[in-house]
Amino acid sequence: MRIPFMAGNWKMFKTKAEAKAFAEEFKGLYEGTDVETAICAPFTTLEVLVEEFGGTKIGVGAQNVHFADEGAYTGEISVGMLEEIGVDFCIVGHSERRQYFGETDETVNLKLKKLLTSSIRPIMCAGESLEQRDAGKLFDVVKGQLINGLEGISRDDMIKIVVAYEPIWAIGTGRTATPEQAGEMCAFIRNTLIEMYDEDVADQVIIQYGGSVKPANATEIMNMEEIDGALVGGASLKAKDFMEIIDF
Ligand code: 13P
Repeated sequence: MRIPFMAGNWKMFKTKAEAKAFAEEFKGLYEGTDVETAICAPFTTLEVLVEEFGGTKIGVGAQNVHFADEGAYTGEISVGMLEEIGVDFCIVGHSERRQYFGETDETVNLKLKKLLTSSIRPIMCAGESLEQRDAGKLFDVVKGQLINGLEGISRDDMIKIVVAYEPIWAIGTGRTATPEQAGEMCAFIRNTLIEMYDEDVADQVIIQYGGSVKPANATEIMNMEEIDGALVGGASLKAKDFMEIIDF
């Protein structure tokens, strides 16, 4: 049985003070809920969120990490630094990182492998552009991201990874994939994991959908059999909206 897992991705939003205010409100709203959740937030707010969410089941995630232990990598943050703060999750390979910051399947793979040496669970993003979808290449693109991104990762490690299907054309555009489109790709991802690993592994992997998820469409998306959760951008910035999604 896979427990639903809803993660927020705040992207480059919220100061420390704003994060603290969100946490104070959200903690109260979330209490007693069975659905698992985490907030993936800017580095500067992680410590305050870990502190605020201490003693609750609410996880805290980063949105990126470097794959080296340490070194001359100006502007980067290591897995050890995140672990020291007490971070539970880390997004890897978000399309915005791929598009604006040169993330590739190869760096995704290195980051996943480094995270898997720690207690931090990766949330690995995959998804096609509109151009790729219109050209009928959507399944090839996502399969390629999985095969290359997960290269050399063992069965035991694979079950720790959350996979998020995020079609680029549905991110921040208000244009959500239909539940059928989202469900179809999440089923394809699970089948690809069966091919790469086996049914037992694929059955345990949490697969999220992300792209303009909001309170109004969360139920129909979560009703799709192969969708176990959502990676929520804009709608995770308001505690009440995010809680409505969690309560789908
Ligand atoms: P939106 O929910 O704002 O479309 O963002 C989705 C996303 O990129 C989550 O990682």
